[in-house]
Amino acid sequence: MSSVAWGITGAGHLLEESVERIEELSVNHDVTVFLSGAAEEVLKMYGLGERLDSVLGGGYLNELLRESEAGRSHSKAGRLALGKYDLLVVSPCTSNTLAKMAHGVSDSLVTNCFAQAGKSRVPAFVVPVDLEDSVSETPYRVRRELCVECEDCPPADVCPVDAFDRSAGTQIVLERCTACGLCVEPVAPGESVVKDVGEVRPCGYGAVVGGQEVRTYVRGVDRENAEIVAGFEGVKVIEEPADFRP
Ligand SMILES: Cc1cc2nc3c(=O)[nH]c(=O)nc-3n(C[C@H](O)[C@H](O)[C@H](O)COP(=O)(O)O)c2cc1C
Repeated sequence: MSSVAWGITGAGHLLEESVERIEELSVNHDVTVFLSGAAEEVLKMYGLGERLDSVLGGGYLNELLRESEAGRSHSKAGRLALGKYDLLVVSPCTSNTLAKMAHGVSDSLVTNCFAQAGKSRVPAFVVPVDLEDSVSETPYRVRRELCVECEDCPPADVCPVDAFDRSAGTQIVLERCTACGLCVEPVAPGESVVKDVGEVRPCGYGAVVGGQEVRTYVRGVDRENAEIVAGFEGVKVIEEPADFRP
């Protein structure tokens, strides 16, 4: 059984795959997850926060540690220096965190863990999201070109966390959204308004959507940073969280 420190940064791409790998690992290994501030926000936007919470038992070395709670210099990051973890994984790793790693910056919880690992000779595995052109999925959003600003807005009415802001055209405030999906779930005929857009949904115009695919192209700077990090002693850059073996 290994003891794994796992850093998650604020990337939507490879986020679910990372949570899945943590779920698998936590069956036979101790896993402590360190969340950057952006990771906390993005996990919530993709509806994965509670899932991650429920995987980790909450006992010693099986915790979810948040930058928002204890800051970027979280004392628990010091466990890497104390030899409490056999290795560190950073997945998904945003281009932001990768750039900081490449240049020795440690001003967030995850970059701090990475620096501690390097200084303490703890092996690290990094999964940058921008190694290849990729397709990722958006969180929930309102397609403004389709929204006709109905006086009554059924998706806003069903939202349990009041994430719809209708003050300047209808928008979803992602910082409040928990990705429960009620705003796009099929509803019984008659519960929707205006137009039939195939399956009946709270928005009869099909203006509220989730999981839209967007293509992302790799920038030269991200490729260069991945090469720099891959050249560090004790660090392996891998393509997918599923490729990681303790
Ligand atoms: C919904 C959402 C998805 C994002 N996905 C990515 C991503 O796939 N890759 C990336 O590099 N940044 C992504 N970002 C931007 C990062 O969250 C942002 O650069 C942040 O500053 C990263 O901070 P961190 O590296 O400390 O986690 C996303 C932001 C949001 C709101």
